[in-house]
Amino acid sequence: MITLPRFEAKNTAQKADTDVIFVVQDAGKKPIAPRGPYGGAIDKFRKGDSFSGKLGQIAVVSFGGKGSATHAAYVGLGLASELTAEKVRQAGGHTLSRMLAEKVTSIQVLVDSLLDLKGAADSDKFPSAFAEGYALGAYKFDKYKNLDKKGSSANEPVGPAKVIFVSKDKSMKTALAEILKDAQIVAECVSVTRDWSNEPANFGTPEYFAKDAQRLSKEYGISCKVLGEKECAKEKMDLFLAVGQGSARENKLVVVDYHPKGASKTIALVGKGVTFDSGGISIKPSMKMEDMKHDMTGAATMMGAVLLAARRKIKNRVIAVMAFTENMPDGNAIVPSSVIKTRAGKTVEVINTDAEGRLVLADALDYAQDFKPDVVVNAATLTGACGVALGKHCAGLMGNDASLTAELFRIGNELNERMWELPLYDDYFEDLKSDYADMKNSANDAMGGTIRGGMFLKQFIRKGMPWAHLDIAYTAQNMGQIPYLPKKGGSGMHVRTLAQFASEY
Ligand code: BES
Ligand code: MN
Ligand code: ZN
Repeated sequence: MITLPRFEAKNTAQKADTDVIFVVQDAGKKPIAPRGPYGGAIDKFRKGDSFSGKLGQIAVVSFGGKGSATHAAYVGLGLASELTAEKVRQAGGHTLSRMLAEKVTSIQVLVDSLLDLKGAADSDKFPSAFAEGYALGAYKFDKYKNLDKKGSSANEPVGPAKVIFVSKDKSMKTALAEILKDAQIVAECVSVTRDWSNEPANFGTPEYFAKDAQRLSKEYGISCKVLGEKECAKEKMDLFLAVGQGSARENKLVVVDYHPKGASKTIALVGKGVTFDSGGISIKPSMKMEDMKHDMTGAATMMGAVLLAARRKIKNRVIAVMAFTENMPDGNAIVPSSVIKTRAGKTVEVINTDAEGRLVLADALDYAQDFKPDVVVNAATLTGACGVALGKHCAGLMGNDASLTAELFRIGNELNERMWELPLYDDYFEDLKSDYADMKNSANDAMGGTIRGGMFLKQFIRKGMPWAHLDIAYTAQNMGQIPYLPKKGGSGMHVRTLAQFASEY
């Protein structure tokens, strides 16, 4: 739920419960005393072992009301020589969790103690990284909990009610208020992605997301178009419709368009929006099947990214094409061996109804290219094999343009939304050749599954169109190893990267 912290920017110290101060380590991994009145306590820490200043450690010390606050929280950032903006972002997440656990009602972040830590290449980004990590950490999804107790407190911020950032420093490139505003915007848009991803599949239907997209687009002042099954049939999106054939719910293709005046480039973002993936007739085992409510996170990621682009008023046009459907077994469901004509005119033999994401995306990618974008990027929870290949610490990245994938890789790395490129050699298409159609949607062994998914999508990219595919199957949810991401559920990962990419392209 979007329960943003209430950030305030100040240039003089205020009264607060807890002052937040930053501490780095010297080469011997001992804490270095920060400048100012809070430096003295560090000597005690240096003698004891309780606090060394490493990243993740926070020492909360009582000052009995002598300073501007009754308590100080010393936030460890690790070795001074190895400090990066990402570590500061993670410290933001740690700080939120600790303040939440201590039930602190107001904090004051001493930004100048962060600015003192010069030396690192990206030190000018530290204040915004901390605010971003803190705001991204302040997320909860409890709309279906304690329903009887839900009252006016339902939308209270997570953590301290008041979060003041104070700095006397005038050398900051961007004003503190602007930095805080952007952190709030980021958290707000990432929360949309997480909320959508977490929505239980009985509520989170194609229609639900279409309506919510319309509501959000209105709120953000951007346009939104929804195509139902009739309109999709007119658009010849038979493959997309085929996936939803076994579902009682109507497919919805949702197009959200941020189109600023004088836009020079157009970025098309295409997302897989399978609201529940049972596997269809090629049904999945029941173990962990509940996780398949997250199978629309590609679409949710593109929604978050287009909203963030709009809030930031970037110069480029961003169009999110989100294809929502539900993959269910039923008397009407498509069966293995079905041959279906795609919007692009090619035929596909469906040998496995559980390889449905690529079917949805084939038509959605073709539709998106009608807008004549300069670049197309899609995101999808496409293959379990992506977890086998890369684990859960990065997404799979594929594409047809080396400079495009390099750019996504760079930004993702910088924002710790990592991705790793896999090859799309033409040879891989051999596995997708069909005896009855132009291609089949799967193969009969488990070799290179993620690449096969990418290879299938590649067949629907028009000549000369730069395109990249992100397989987010294992980064879309349960990314709690990163301190500012939720322990469980939708991570909202790659929203920041895609919005940044759209603005820099
Ligand atoms: N939605 C799944 C992929 C997935 C699996 C995402 C696990 C997250 C966690 C996708 O539709 C799927 O079922 N893919 C198949 C492809 C296969 C049949 C070629 C898979 O991964 O087994
Ligand atoms: Mn599937
Ligand atoms: Zn799926």
